[in-house]
Amino acid sequence: GDAHYYDFVLKKSNFTRLCSTKSMLTVNESFPGPVIRIHRGDTVYVNVQNEGDYGVTIHWHGVEQTRNPWSDGPEYITQCSIQPRTNFTYEVILGKDQEGTLWWHAHSNWTRATVHGAIVVLPAEGTTYPYPKPDAEEVIVLASWFEGDVNLLVQEALLQNSTSSTPVSDAYTINGQPGDFAACSNGTTYRLLVDYGKTYLLRIVNAIMNSETFFAISGHNLTVVGTDGTYTKPFVTSFIMITPGQTMDVLVTMDQAPSYYYMAARQFVSENPEVPDFDDSNVTAIIQYRGNYTPPAAPSFPANLPAYHQLGVAYSFLSQFRSLASPEHPVNVPLDITTRMYITVAMNSVVYEDEGTTGTYIASSLNNISFLNPEMDVLQAYYRHVGGVYTTDFPDHPSYYFNFTGYDMPSDVTMQATKVKVLNYNESVEIIFQGTNVQYTPEDHPLHLHGYTFYVIGSGYGVFDNETDPQGFNLVDPPERNTVTVPQNGWVALRFVANNPGVWLWHCHLDRHLTWGMDTVFIVKDGGTPETSILPPPAYMPPCQDPSPIVLE
Ligand code: C2O
Ligand code: CU
Repeated sequence: GDAHYYDFVLKKSNFTRLCSTKSMLTVNESFPGPVIRIHRGDTVYVNVQNEGDYGVTIHWHGVEQTRNPWSDGPEYITQCSIQPRTNFTYEVILGKDQEGTLWWHAHSNWTRATVHGAIVVLPAEGTTYPYPKPDAEEVIVLASWFEGDVNLLVQEALLQNSTSSTPVSDAYTINGQPGDFAACSNGTTYRLLVDYGKTYLLRIVNAIMNSETFFAISGHNLTVVGTDGTYTKPFVTSFIMITPGQTMDVLVTMDQAPSYYYMAARQFVSENPEVPDFDDSNVTAIIQYRGNYTPPAAPSFPANLPAYHQLGVAYSFLSQFRSLASPEHPVNVPLDITTRMYITVAMNSVVYEDEGTTGTYIASSLNNISFLNPEMDVLQAYYRHVGGVYTTDFPDHPSYYFNFTGYDMPSDVTMQATKVKVLNYNESVEIIFQGTNVQYTPEDHPLHLHGYTFYVIGSGYGVFDNETDPQGFNLVDPPERNTVTVPQNGWVALRFVANNPGVWLWHCHLDRHLTWGMDTVFIVKDGGTPETSILPPPAYMPPCQDPSPIVLE
């Protein structure tokens, strides 16, 4: 493949949305940020120059970074942050099968709210899409807009207890704009001009911070053809559900009466009882047919956009995904599993003591452990054999069993620790993520693994049944993903071969849950030959000079 070079300058500048102006950090003064457009198998070098006033890291979401954890990006996991007035060059290495849409975003504090953009991976030169070539394509980025400073909200979220509420965004955006229904916004609504009869490939990226999302286009069906940098068997739908971290490639044929049509997104809230103080608004953009006709008084709104608490339609949408499983895009699900893990996903509390009074903060966990960020990144500690940074006892299953989807957990208090899981090279891994009802609001968790694309072989409601549920696993054409929703009070099963050595973060892609500790790290050991080992570190890595990772005080 070819090499491509990009310059990303992180800089604060003024943006006006929802009737007010704020100064915020973006890449190259654009929101969303620049699109990286490459072909399958290419390598990208991105020089990040930080002209902002705090440290930042960038992650290449979904990019497998073959043997190259050095450029993966999550702060305290594979690097320390790029300090103001310094730079760092990322070498972004795609996995050999990756093709479709991926994205990049900041991976320190909540900076990704304003620092993100798409990665378009076109078919390799001389090859083409596994579906009829679209006439045109467009990137559609869904994101959150906060009127305040997003990194102050992290502090608020960290100190949240059961009586305060989660900081919420003030609007969603499509390609940077809140749309016609938001205050002071209808002059700037994003418009896609289209030609009658043509088919467009929309590359949809969900960069929203804290909620899953429904998306639809008035009057037009969507044909889903890919997700997370992989191809899927095409299926037709009138709406999609897309979770933060995921991408979805959809084909849309402009076959309706020439007019204006809204595309719209709204949050999908899985929590039950419904929590009223979540981000709750519709964001719109306009599909505008070219030609001579009388424009409508108002574009039509998508009638098939589900209401925000429609669990059934969301989960049945997800059940339709199948990988292409063709000779060009084969499936290689591991069959002989060498490491099985059963991981509970829970909302919890941690206890604090402050001048004689005790109380609790909200926390979240995997196998009842809330991950605590170390002061030196895990990768550096691993590679240089620095002790005392992490322990390798992240458990393969919960320490005791209870009715995970009932209400009988003896305590919701979790342990805060930096525990990682170590895997040997080439292990065949199966993980069951089990949703729980530890607190009274079970909800979906979009879990994301760095460094890998995995097969989602099954999913269901209630507590995973070790006898019967595996009989329903799809080992023939399961979808490949890098981010998967663990359904509210349900489970999801996935498999992958641990053939990418490195230090890889697993986490919930709802940022508030990540902040509260719903993450862990997989260290995949070298395979014993140079070709199966981590690449040597770059000559320069940002030093871990900042002694103050966010920890509960
Ligand atoms: Cu979108 Cu840890 O990533
Ligand atoms: Cu979560």
